[in-house]
Amino acid sequence: MAPGGLSGYRPMLFVAMENFVELIYFLTALLFILGLKRMSSPNTARSGVIWAGIAMVAATLVTFFLPNLHNQGLMIVAIVIGTVVAWIAAKRVQMTDMPQMVAIYNGMGGGAAGAIAAVELLRGEFAEALGLKLLAILGALIGSVSFTGSLIAFAKLQGLMSSRPIQFPAQKLVNAAVGVGAILLAIWVLFSQSGLPILAFFLLALGFGVLMTLPIGGGDMPVVISLYNAFTGLAVGFEGFAIGNAALIVAGTVVGAAGTLLTLLMAKAMNRSLWSVLVGGFGVEQEAGEVKGSLKPIDLEDAAVMLAYASKVIFVPGYGMAVAQAQHKLREVADVLEAKGIEVKYAIHPVAGRMPGHMNVLLAEAGVAYDKLYDLEDINPEFPQADVAVVIGANDVVNPAAHRKGSPLYGMPILDVDKAKNAIVIKRGQGKGFAGVENELFFADNTRMLYGDAQSVLGQLVQSLKKL
Ligand code: TAP
Repeated sequence: MAPGGLSGYRPMLFVAMENFVELIYFLTALLFILGLKRMSSPNTARSGVIWAGIAMVAATLVTFFLPNLHNQGLMIVAIVIGTVVAWIAAKRVQMTDMPQMVAIYNGMGGGAAGAIAAVELLRGEFAEALGLKLLAILGALIGSVSFTGSLIAFAKLQGLMSSRPIQFPAQKLVNAAVGVGAILLAIWVLFSQSGLPILAFFLLALGFGVLMTLPIGGGDMPVVISLYNAFTGLAVGFEGFAIGNAALIVAGTVVGAAGTLLTLLMAKAMNRSLWSVLVGGFGVEQEAGEVKGSLKPIDLEDAAVMLAYASKVIFVPGYGMAVAQAQHKLREVADVLEAKGIEVKYAIHPVAGRMPGHMNVLLAEAGVAYDKLYDLEDINPEFPQADVAVVIGANDVVNPAAHRKGSPLYGMPILDVDKAKNAIVIKRGQGKGFAGVENELFFADNTRMLYGDAQSVLGQLVQSLKKL
């Protein structure tokens, strides 16, 4: 027996368990990063998600081995409830509703970080360590803003409230006052042990998240959701430092960095500065603009002939293709055209559909080779040489109104379908796009409208093409 009897073994056992947990945290961190790397290509993205998921499960389970853990029963109940709800929701959600799902899950992450900080602050955990307390407060501030901001983003995208920018008099002043108030309270909390300023601080931080998101229009929501994603990562990372948990630090930093990069990329893709998105108000002016010309329908046979005699065809998929799940039929049309020796390319707008990479994922699922998908900058110079550009359920991303000042779309780069020799637009009727703006491309002399659900129209097009 070791000197000191049995009690000498206990600290050794604790140290061994802590080391074991740290080792597994380290391995899960590696898995997170490798998983994230694999998510950067549609070919490996699925396995990337699985790797990161395994890492998340491992990090959660191994936490139960931490010595001095309390309330394990409550933790298990929370995990079971969360898992069941998330499992059912994820099984039921439509692909097209994915952005709001991301928004709400992301908000939960921010809320969890805020809740950790609230408990630790109310327990007076950081009395001796001002640096750690500062980190906990920063995490609480960012996490709370991300929580309520994400809830509003969810409500806007889910149609529970208007997706238009919500504005009221002196809004910027009120927002600034609440934001500054939250920061001043944060400083008070840092130097006090009383519960009241903590409560007031959380109320203002949560309120600021709501106020900050209300004036942002639905069109800019993708950027905002990704920003809140970065916020949640940062908040979790800060809380990780505050409570000394390596898994939270690594996962939070990875999410924070990835979210920041994605936010900047998306803001660039929509030609918005991040500041202008946050200050809000895009899409407030609803300037209709003059649309000249008329909508000219085309029937299936004529559309098939037009395609069969082309030498270069560019497909432009959008949200409507996702709704109709028309990607497989689109690929069949492309296969028939290629078999006739026609050059086929796909033009991918960075915000086509309802989430980043939406079109890439769907087309990859349909087996379209990745090298046939072209980004906006690469494909735009090719439209003038295209005999036919076929728009499949896209609207805003091909709307030339984006070139006109005063339009809610002003400044967003578009795919230059209007420069193609001919355009065929497949859509069900005269529905507008996400931004609610009329599209003059549809009225142009060289545009023909092929009305119907994208999947059924493309299915019939395959049959017509095969007969030619
Ligand atoms: P939208 O502008 O949303 O237009 C989609 C078009 O598809 C509609 O005009 C609709 O017209 C048609 N459509 C709907 N169901 C259809 C079906 N079953 N078959 C055929 N057509 C159908 O799409 P977009 O051009 O892809 O632009 C995306 C917009 O969403 C942008 O404004 C973007 O900012 C915004 N947004 C993007 C994201 C991300 S990250 N991608 C996230 C949130 C919002 P009909 O009703 O006449 O059929």
